[in-house]
Amino acid sequence: MQYLKENFYRLLHPKIVFLLTSISKEGKENVMACAWATPASEEPPKVIVCVAKENYTAELILETKEFVINIPTRNMLNEIWICGSKSGRHINKFDLAGLKKIKAEKVSAPLIEGCVGYIECKVTETVDAGECYAFLADVISCKVDKNYFKGGVWIPNQIPMHLGGKKIVYFRDEKTT
Ligand SMILES: Cc1cc2nc3c(=O)[nH]c(=O)nc-3n(C[C@H](O)[C@H](O)[C@H](O)COP(=O)(O)O)c2cc1C
Repeated sequence: MQYLKENFYRLLHPKIVFLLTSISKEGKENVMACAWATPASEEPPKVIVCVAKENYTAELILETKEFVINIPTRNMLNEIWICGSKSGRHINKFDLAGLKKIKAEKVSAPLIEGCVGYIECKVTETVDAGECYAFLADVISCKVDKNYFKGGVWIPNQIPMHLGGKKIVYFRDEKTT
């Protein structure tokens, strides 16, 4: 064994990559790539999403207390890198990445066309976690494309997972014990 001096969190990867959408009070929308999320409770349904304080997304979520987790497919890697490497503070990443917006059911932040899972969320608590805010949120609506999610699980090889840095991986096989 060796001590890991940096990137300890990569021991907890791979994690599903999603496009996190948010909106300002004035209606300005934004999207960023994100991997740090976890279910926090099944009943009531809650998630935690961690966003760096310096990101424009954090500012918008603090302002309107809502967001959407949009789960893309492996065909959307280019869009993921664009949304994960530029800030929406001064540019429109939807236009830049060619992402089309769809109206969400219960929140004002938009859904992204072509994604195969959508989790609409409303923040109930914000934890100052250091470099990030950890947003604990109620899951208000959750939809999935049944071509990609079968028998209650993702089908193999389609959903990008972040291993760390520039590395994206896919799980290949499902084994039932
Ligand atoms: C695969 C991937 C995963 C990322 N995960 C996170 C994350 O979990 N939390 C975070 O704050 N930033 C994460 N980022 C970085 C943000 O997407 C990036 O800082 C972005 O430019 C922020 O945009 P904004 O300023 O428009 O909010 C990730 C980037 C990539 C490419």
